[in-house]
Amino acid sequence: MRFLRTFILIVLFGGMVVAVVHAQDNVGVGKKLTIGFSQVGSESDWRTEFTRVIKAEAQERGINLLFLNAENSQKNQINAIRYFIAQHVDAIILAPVIETGWDQILHEAKDAGIPVVIIDRNVTADESLYLTRVSSDFVYEGRLAAAWLAQATAGRKCEIVELEGTVGSSAARDRQIGFNDVIKYFPDMQVIVSQSGDFIRENGKKIMESILKTENPSDICAVWAHNDDMAIGAIQAIKDAGMKPGKDILIVSVDAIPDIFKAMADGEANATIELSPYLGGPAFDAIISYLQGHEIPKWIPVTGKIYFPDTAAAEYAKRKQQS
Ligand code: AHR
Repeated sequence: MRFLRTFILIVLFGGMVVAVVHAQDNVGVGKKLTIGFSQVGSESDWRTEFTRVIKAEAQERGINLLFLNAENSQKNQINAIRYFIAQHVDAIILAPVIETGWDQILHEAKDAGIPVVIIDRNVTADESLYLTRVSSDFVYEGRLAAAWLAQATAGRKCEIVELEGTVGSSAARDRQIGFNDVIKYFPDMQVIVSQSGDFIRENGKKIMESILKTENPSDICAVWAHNDDMAIGAIQAIKDAGMKPGKDILIVSVDAIPDIFKAMADGEANATIELSPYLGGPAFDAIISYLQGHEIPKWIPVTGKIYFPDTAAAEYAKRKQQS
């Protein structure tokens, strides 16, 4: 009888211990993970969605995500990383606002033994200073935009307005490189003005308003915007000037946010290249795999495709519901 009671106690108590350990070790690395994430800011709808998704993914996996919004300031990001180091987090995820100036802080994280994952935009720092980078291929996005425009204008003269993203960010630099790589083969295609709107909708509108005054609007064949938000700002400016965006002036941009699908469904935009906001999952997978002792590739690509008006209404309905 005493033996039976002891046996039952061991089974019950042992079960409780296993349950508690399991709750603490949610991802198979021996403990509950705490990860610091320094986000660029909230300059665009894409960024806001990326933030929403990464927080949801962390919660789903039982990861304690320390989230800091840097409001587009590298200084804030460096302070955030120092804070994460002081908190002895298990890993850091950095979405860098610009490419340069990260070596010192990445050295500090490395010296503290904390792996860093670069997410979305790139850094110029030595690859040995971070674990991996999870991102799309921005050069490819620019090439795709230009290739679409080349076939849409089919050898006609095409003067292009370029709305650039944040100067110094790899997203802006690489998209520009990709676009120019392709249009150099089409002598009739030419970027006549290029201005940075920092990926912000209101800036896209203001810049386009001023370009429509300084250039002859009927000479402008297309707007190539480094993101959808700036494209939507430009669409408003074109409409305010009494012209038809999507027809008088073609619109091509990057991100695939719900509002651009609405614009395409309304005939006011022509193409968008998708930038997936689902970057957090692969970043968490890489960190967990690394902590389990596996080798991690230096680049984990995330892909997206180009969308046109034909599927825009359906995509708008679907994406509006998800966000
Ligand atoms: O770095 C990616 C870019 O940043 C997105 O295309 C833009 O919307 C965001 O602000």
